[in-house]
Amino acid sequence: MCKTNFYLFIFASSFLSPVSTYDNDTYYEDDVFEEYFEGEKYWDDFSLNLCELPVIDKTSEWRGAVCVEYLVNFQVVKMEILTWRPALVIYRDLFTKTQVNDYLELMKDRDFEEQSVVDEDGNEFTSKVRKANGTQIVANDYPASRSIFETVKSLIPNLNFEIAEDIIALSYKSAGHYAPHHDYLVYPSENEWDGWMRNYGNRFATLIMVFETAISGGATVFPQLGASVKPNPGDAFFWFNAMGDGEQEDLSEHGGCPIYAGTKQISTIWIRMKEQPILSNLLNSGSIPAHYLFPGAIRNTIFSS
Ligand SMILES: *[C@@H]1O[C@H](CO)[C@@H](O)[C@H](O)[C@H]1NC(C)=O
Ligand SMILES: *[C@@H]1O[C@H](CO)[C@@H](O)[C@H](O)[C@H]1NC(C)=O
Repeated sequence: MCKTNFYLFIFASSFLSPVSTYDNDTYYEDDVFEEYFEGEKYWDDFSLNLCELPVIDKTSEWRGAVCVEYLVNFQVVKMEILTWRPALVIYRDLFTKTQVNDYLELMKDRDFEEQSVVDEDGNEFTSKVRKANGTQIVANDYPASRSIFETVKSLIPNLNFEIAEDIIALSYKSAGHYAPHHDYLVYPSENEWDGWMRNYGNRFATLIMVFETAISGGATVFPQLGASVKPNPGDAFFWFNAMGDGEQEDLSEHGGCPIYAGTKQISTIWIRMKEQPILSNLLNSGSIPAHYLFPGAIRNTIFSS
């Protein structure tokens, strides 16, 4: 159950709507496995323990977590704010079951490759730090990916999803994982910057869209925020990799927990720094708070004082 005392009237998309709360008492516990997986040495005990917490629909367990519903383009957006500053947010039921199923069908037809990691000199290599299969998808190439991308653009305001890398679809089977890391890219000097970095800036924020959850394992942990999330198919979650001054948000460190049973299928959108309206609206250079994700009219009503 997501507890909140957030009862306000808001004005969004020229439509007056109550901000309401909703409950979800569904609660799953992952069995705790003490299995070895390749790459375990890249994990610290604290983060791995965080992985083992029951993590589905437990937003209420975070102190200060708030659930908000509002309308954008006449559609309900259910936002669960796990941490305010920097923002870590779950968007519940962002996609319909049909969208999820169509997207999973598209995934079946794609060739997945073992994913690599990039070192500080920009060299890609495979490593036990990360065990996942992935493939790049140009959103506009397929109806199923275009559909989810249109939903993301229309329901998540204030972020410019046009300045984003192609979708990366990821599949993690048993023993798949990605040890805690930052998405923000670090280069020894500007000489090593690639075209993306030169033209669009660093990875400002990450949206992870969930299409299939593992039967056991496979949460995403944020060790420095003490948070562990494992949202349901059709949900998405979001955080900022950068602070208001464009430097790395250290607290955005996150890891993909080992999978013990089943398959996890997610897709990532990395939004780049250029032409992001949030950056020009920010009042300070530190960690970016969650209310910058609200539609402007709501933000002004609630937070202008
Ligand atoms: C609550 O979560 C369950 C489990 O994932 C989901 O099936 C259900 O639709 C959710 N209910 C609401 C009201 O969001
Ligand atoms: C990647 O794909 C290969 C071949 O299908 C499979 O054997 C392996 O388990 C997959 N790895 C992960 C981490 O899902």
